[in-house]
Parts: sequence; structure tokens; C-alpha cells
Amino acid sequence: MKSAEQSFETVFGHAPEATASAPGRVNLLGEHTDYQGGLVLPTAIPQQTTATLARNGTGEHRVYSADLDEQASFPVGENAPSGFARYVAGALALGGAREGLDVFVTSDVPMGAGLSSSAALEVATLRALRALGVLHADDEQIALLAQRVEHEFVGVQSGIMDQMASSFADPAHMLFLDTRSLERRTLPLPAGAEVLVIDSGVPRKLAESGYNERRAQVEEAARRLGVHELRDVTDPAAVEALPSPLRERARHVVTENKRVQEAVQPGVTAQRFGELMNASHTSLRDDYAVSHPRVDELVSLLQAHPDVFGARVTGAGFGGAVVALVREGQARAVAAATLARYSGPGRRVVPG
Ligand code: GLA
Repeated sequence: MKSAEQSFETVFGHAPEATASAPGRVNLLGEHTDYQGGLVLPTAIPQQTTATLARNGTGEHRVYSADLDEQASFPVGENAPSGFARYVAGALALGGAREGLDVFVTSDVPMGAGLSSSAALEVATLRALRALGVLHADDEQIALLAQRVEHEFVGVQSGIMDQMASSFADPAHMLFLDTRSLERRTLPLPAGAEVLVIDSGVPRKLAESGYNERRAQVEEAARRLGVHELRDVTDPAAVEALPSPLRERARHVVTENKRVQEAVQPGVTAQRFGELMNASHTSLRDDYAVSHPRVDELVSLLQAHPDVFGARVTGAGFGGAVVALVREGQARAVAAATLARYSGPGRRVVPG
């Protein structure tokens, strides 16, 4: 049966009790800063994940993904053996589900592309639990619970950006978030510009191990610099005295925070914002080492296009999507011109 023909009722044979959705996100600037107390600037993408659920009267949760056509069952309060169900299992356990639930998941957020399909799934499931009356939490508490799902049930030591973006961002604005205080401001996109996202088609195979390794490296760099987090570095010369690769890793985080600070100043043009994105890509490629040759190719093609203000890898990296800021109204044309020259199997994912 095709997923589009399926529903909660056809899979589980009874009626749903609650449903909720949450979007994926694309980060415009401020990459790999959110686990060092830094500044980030994501926006929501139009694609969403929806979780629909109902009590099933047993001691087991049953979860079904229509997009993957996969079902998993596991005891209440426990983790699922693998796959997408771990995100749901974590959200159900941390969200306080004490009796068996049936959960039907549909999503059009691209998976494995660095667009936070996992945060969208966590936040949608937690919101559905709230709609069911099981979880009493505000949107910030939901984001924090969703981050604990990553840490405790998935094994990725993620920061808080994705879950906060899924909870608070909308596709028409940037969410300027201080990941230390969780203070946030909603800002308009740079005037005369729109967002284009292209999936490079490169699977993010190293993402989990590479991510945790980068995190350990910047924690070590902060320790050696005697600061709580790299957000607190006041002397960039001290960073340059670190041994490699801690020097490069820390340099990325410190310069990336500066780029975000500049990007949110009033009156920053799309032109200047784009230059900051280009500089971010260079830093992620050379200092943070989280890009990929196909991703670099796509970014170079975009950066060379006259209607592109700037472009870079987005999300954790190691493959996945690139984001570009392009002249308003030109996103589709830029994507078509770029993909015609790209050697990999890319596709435009935003505008949806
Ligand atoms: C992943 C993590 C985020 C953030 C980004 C990199 O998406 O989940 O917390 O660290 O990578 O900026």
C-alpha cells in the first residue's frame, strides 16, 4: 500500500486521539556553535512531520512511519531497537507516556540531509503527547526534552538549535537564538533575498561519529583555553597557540559567532549576509572539516551564480544539504542552472 493511502485507522484499526506537527529547519548561519554556548540563525523549512496517536490499552507502544513503511513495537518507557522509532521512543518516555500508545508518523521533511527531520519528529511527538493531555510543557520545555531524546535515546550529543528551531521558527523569518540563555528574536530575512536549499544527495554517513568527535575536540579546546565554553573566548591569539586540530576547530567556533553577530546588525544587506555565509563555508570546510567534495562543488557552483548572495553547507555537514541566499524570485531558476552543472544526484528541497 502506498503511504499516501495509509492513515492511523488503516494501520492500527481504531481512531486517533491527538495529532500535532513540527517543521524541519535550515540553518542560515551559526554552524557548530550551539554546543559551545554560541549564536545561531536558523529558519523553518515549509516541510513538516506529523505525529498522530491514541492509547492502545497494552503495555507496548507501536509506532509506524508511513514514509519508511516501517513499524516497531517496544515496551512502555523503553527505547526502540533502532531507526526512526528511537526518536519516538525517547519522546514518549521523556514526555511521560505511562500506557501503550499507537503512533502514526508522516513527514515530508527530507531525511538525512541536515534539515532536522529528527528534531521535527521529536517535537511533533512531544506536541502530540501535549495535545493528548499527557505532557504539560511549553514550547521551550518541549525543545529541551527533544534534545534529551538525542542525548539519551539516539546517542548524538547535539546542541539545542534544531529543537528550538522546530519549536519556534517559521519559514518567513530567521530565529536569532542565543543557545546559552535561550533568548531569541525573530528577524526578517535580508531585504530582497530568499532561501534556496539543495540536497547534495551525499548521505551523511559519518555524521554521528564525526559530530561527537568535533564536540569532544572543542570541549578539549575550551578546557585548554581555561574558558567554560568557546563563546567566552576573548583573546583570539590564544586560539592560534593551540595545537592542531584543536586550533582550527576552535577558530571556526570563535569566528562563526562573530559572523552571526554581524549578520543580525540592523541594516545588513543581502550582499553582506551572503559574504558571511561564504566565509562560514570556508571555515566549515577548512577549519572544522565537516564538508564533502560534492558539497563543495555544489557550493562553488552556487557562489558563482550572479543571483546568489552566498552559499554554504548547512547542518552538521559530512554531506547533506547546502543553503543559499538568492535574489528574491530567483530560487527556482538558480537551482535549475546549478543542478544542470552539478555532477552528483542533487535536488532542490526549498522552496518546497
Ligand atoms: C546538528 C545538531 C545541532 C547543531 C548542528 C551544527 O544539526 O543537532 O545541534 O550542532 O548539527 O550546527
